[in-house]
Amino acid sequence: MLISKITDRLDFNVFGDRAIRQSDGSMIIDATNADQPIIAGVVNMLKSIDREELIARDEGRMKLEKAGVNVAVTSTDRPTDDLGPDFADLWLLYTTIRERRPVNLVEFGSGWSTYVIASAIRENGIGRLVSFDTSKKWAEVTRSTLFGGLAEVCEVVHVASREIEFEGELAFQHDIPPQAQVDFIYLDGPPLTAERSIAVDPLILENNLSADAMIVVDGRPWNVDFLKRKLRQKYKVESDILFVLTVKGEKLLAANYMTAFAKCG
Ligand SMILES: C[S@@+](CC[C@H](N)C(=O)[O-])C[C@H]1O[C@@H](n2cnc3c(N)ncnc32)[C@H](O)[C@@H]1O
Repeated sequence: MLISKITDRLDFNVFGDRAIRQSDGSMIIDATNADQPIIAGVVNMLKSIDREELIARDEGRMKLEKAGVNVAVTSTDRPTDDLGPDFADLWLLYTTIRERRPVNLVEFGSGWSTYVIASAIRENGIGRLVSFDTSKKWAEVTRSTLFGGLAEVCEVVHVASREIEFEGELAFQHDIPPQAQVDFIYLDGPPLTAERSIAVDPLILENNLSADAMIVVDGRPWNVDFLKRKLRQKYKVESDILFVLTVKGEKLLAANYMTAFAKCG
């Protein structure tokens, strides 16, 4: 299993028949005229997701160390607005790339993920990552972590992103050069705004995807929802945790970590 299903370990019983499990394992909770048990249930769920996430981060750090990824590098001098690495996500990325052995990888939003993806590629002995970042500063910070041969398998490119309207939806699109075949996309950028919570790039690159390509989206529940609606080919979709709270069918709140779209057919 590519994604550890934390959703399976959470107790949705308190929501009764208001929680409906989707085919990808995620849950949609209907909070129309929400009563006290529903509100308390959502609060408890968020707390238990936080607990699970902390455990998963500790486990991820240990596993990366064991796999020989130098996680100590993450504590070197960092900018003051550094958010710090999420080792749970990084471990998931590392194992996914070690298992699938993609050759052409594209990342939107560079950072520790770039370092870890490049480490997995170096270990695989095959593959190349191009990481696009809309921040010149962070592109440089990421480049400074690519030592020990990692720069040979990875390039960090500073690009602009455009504010666009895609079929009536406000979105971002990175200004990237034309791509050849792509086997793996990791979407974790650009920084989103309240009114613009979608990047269209994986959809734009869909025709470049190889037969067994995978798109991994970090968080970004509205982007996940957008891709589920707009991608044209067939995918097996798995979410690590995803629950969406709706009121009269309108999405109100969503929590999710990783979602993988694995192309199938
Ligand atoms: C969600 S972050 C991307 C994080 C990256 N994919 C990772 O997993 O480490 C989105 C943007 O924030 C900036 N950024 C990168 N690393 C950061 C960090 N450690 N703290 C704060 N911002 C960061 C970059 O401009 C990046 O494109």
